[in-house]
Amino acid sequence: MSTILHQPLRILVTGGAGFIGANFLHQIVPKFPDAVIVNLDKLTYAGNLQNLHAIENARNYRFVHGDICDLALVQKLFTEHQFTTVVHFAAESHVDRSIHSPIDFVRSNVVGTASLLQVAKDFWMRFSSDMQKFRFLHVSTDEVFGALGSSGTFSTETPYAPRSPYAASKAGADHFVRAYAETYGLPVVVSNCSNNYGPYQFPEKLIPLAIVRALSRDPIPVYSKGENVRDWLHVRDHCEALTCMLQYGLTGETYLVGSAGECSNLELLRVLLTILDEELGRPSGSSWELITFVKDRPGHDFRYAIDASKLITELGWTPSHTLEEGLRTTVRWYLSNPSWLQAVMDESYRTYMKSQYSTG
Ligand code: NAD
Ligand code: DAU
Repeated sequence: MSTILHQPLRILVTGGAGFIGANFLHQIVPKFPDAVIVNLDKLTYAGNLQNLHAIENARNYRFVHGDICDLALVQKLFTEHQFTTVVHFAAESHVDRSIHSPIDFVRSNVVGTASLLQVAKDFWMRFSSDMQKFRFLHVSTDEVFGALGSSGTFSTETPYAPRSPYAASKAGADHFVRAYAETYGLPVVVSNCSNNYGPYQFPEKLIPLAIVRALSRDPIPVYSKGENVRDWLHVRDHCEALTCMLQYGLTGETYLVGSAGECSNLELLRVLLTILDEELGRPSGSSWELITFVKDRPGHDFRYAIDASKLITELGWTPSHTLEEGLRTTVRWYLSNPSWLQAVMDESYRTYMKSQYSTG
């Protein structure tokens, strides 16, 4: 792409202490040295300031502990920093937790997004009528499109059909974002991305969960027969895609992000555990025996696959990690960061894990 449509100057990042938000901040803090970047995060169980250690003292970065539902706080931040750019990650993100506590998801994902939009719209209408000077980038998921059978891909034409409380709450958020674009003309861009993996992912999601369980030689729970398919994308490729959308994306547009990294959960775990065995010097494939089939997740979406051609052809984005190489660097990251793992696998994590297995 040659023409930059939007220059991020004063940026509000929400949920930047979580997995993807932290990886995004690691990219943009050095990339935009003259910008002011404010990270607003509630620090739920998934938010962790250790994820941001490398950039916490950067001149252009500031952390604010708070909730996106807190209108007064968000208004104060907009007044203080005159944001031109919002990148909205903050959300409850784990499907299994949404099955047990759906209202938490409605609150942060739907009410939180609507609150943020309200303040952003009021601010934008008062101070920044030039479309290109303001941009609200909403980070969403392919789960809003429901489940695929054994063929086909999600595209920007796919109708919404969310099937879990998490997916429904993200779909609600997406609809609010679109409604603000249609009703008030707010310059928004929506991103729907497939499954991410990489450094700083909380060990409740399949890949880091399998790594930590294999390290301690505990059973690795695989729902049903492990035949469900996901389209795995390295988190840094996702973050590059988001920066691309921020600068070159057309407002009002939706972009789907994925890497054609489709594989079944069982195939994925076999590759992952083989790499882990190699890195640990264990006999190759010896950790496969830890794979344990358990009761299926209720409403488990069978397959996700993404047609990312719009992002590739119109904005020039391409993923740079292959699945095998991305998994290897991810395994190495977890092996090199035992203190990070120890800190996140605290008492509340252990209680959550126990509750998962007692129902399985
Ligand atoms: P995460 O759970 O690791 O992090 C979420 C962050 O949001 C945490 O730091 C948490 O403290 C913060 N947060 C939650 N509620 C908040 C609130 N009310 N106010 C302020 N902060 C709050 O999630 P993630 O995996 O990094 O996902 C980030 C975003 O990307 C989410 O919107 C998710 O739906 C979307 N997404 C995730 C994936 C994936 O594979 N992980 C794929 C596509 C899209
Ligand atoms: O597709 C994007 C979505 O990917 C994001 O929007 C979500 O925030 C993110 O959590 C992820 O959702 P999934 O439900 O696909 O991810 P998870 O890692 O929980 O599960 C991946 C697959 O592995 C899924 O088919 C369920 C299965 N699984 C998961 C866990 C936690 C197991 O078999 N065993 C497990 O213990």
